[in-house]
Amino acid sequence: MLILAIETSCDETAACIMDDAGRVLSDAVATQIEIHRTYGGVVPEIASRKHLEALPFVVEDTLQRAGVSLCDIDAFAVTYGPGLVGALLCGVSYAKGLCCALNRPFIGIHHMEGHIMANHVTHPDLETPYLCLVASGGHTCLIHVQAPFQYKLLGQTHDDAAGEAFDKVARVLGLPYPGGPHLEELAKAGNAKAFRFTKPKTDNAYDYSFSGLKTAVLSLMRSAAKQGETPCGADIAASFQAHAVDFLLEPAFLAMRDFGIDTLSLVGGVCANKALRQRAQDMAKRENRAVRLPDMKLCTDNAVMIAEAARRRLAIGERSDLTLNAIPNMPLYGRERSPIL
Ligand code: KG4
Ligand code: ZN
Repeated sequence: MLILAIETSCDETAACIMDDAGRVLSDAVATQIEIHRTYGGVVPEIASRKHLEALPFVVEDTLQRAGVSLCDIDAFAVTYGPGLVGALLCGVSYAKGLCCALNRPFIGIHHMEGHIMANHVTHPDLETPYLCLVASGGHTCLIHVQAPFQYKLLGQTHDDAAGEAFDKVARVLGLPYPGGPHLEELAKAGNAKAFRFTKPKTDNAYDYSFSGLKTAVLSLMRSAAKQGETPCGADIAASFQAHAVDFLLEPAFLAMRDFGIDTLSLVGGVCANKALRQRAQDMAKRENRAVRLPDMKLCTDNAVMIAEAARRRLAIGERSDLTLNAIPNMPLYGRERSPIL
């Protein structure tokens, strides 16, 4: 059985063909980063238009590289939320069109469940229960994956997502969009102990907050500018990154201790950050716990993770019908699609 999965929730047009054993036959990602860079962030209307243009080529490329034709595809999967509504609609409509034309099963996938599945692709031996830290441009949360499709939300951000904070700080440092990878690069030359920032307080110890850290960096830059000084960008980047990494990992390790969970899975775009990956491994080693890190290219948005989620849901008999719509703010759900958030 072959699944063709499509992902268009933000600014990447991605497709993947996977078989029912989880083997990736081909995958492609067409990024719009260069287009949005001019504006310093994703422009939703432009993103939708670019998805429409790219989709036929990305799907054709995936089919060609897998050496199959559309008629060989047994089921179609697509991300239907959360994300930018126009961008999601492009993928959802395209996938529905293919299902109608070919009379094949169709399944809608939650973008965050896709990210969670990225680590199951990289580590097929990853077993539940485990703790999953999702850190992307749109989400930052701690999810206890108790059993397949059984998610318990332990904590989430009250304001900015971790990736959003990286992007905003990078922007004031004059770095291009998306800022995360550029900030990481700049931080290599900096002193991570140059500046100290206060840890945010949240009522729930497993919750996150990144707007305070972002604002602290901004006010540091502003007050330096008032005094005619230019603080070292590399030092700011390194200090911000070190704090962001600690703020992400501390609640995760606390939750593992409190709930007796041995394995931490890191997923989402921010988990491509090498300082975060290294620190997670060091902390886990000290506490005799395991950390699972996805392949670098599976951290940021891709369709392989969507195909993996689809493969698992199709295997338990789930299907979506063609009335499925794009849902820009969608809670994560379990096996019966009952919301967990
Ligand atoms: O998961 P993703 O591709 O898209 C969302 O679902 O949001 O995550 C994108 C986010 C961006 O904010 C980007 O700056 C961040 O992930 N990111 C990084 C790194 N690579 C990507 N943040 C820090 N360090 C990186 N190396
Ligand atoms: Zn994502």
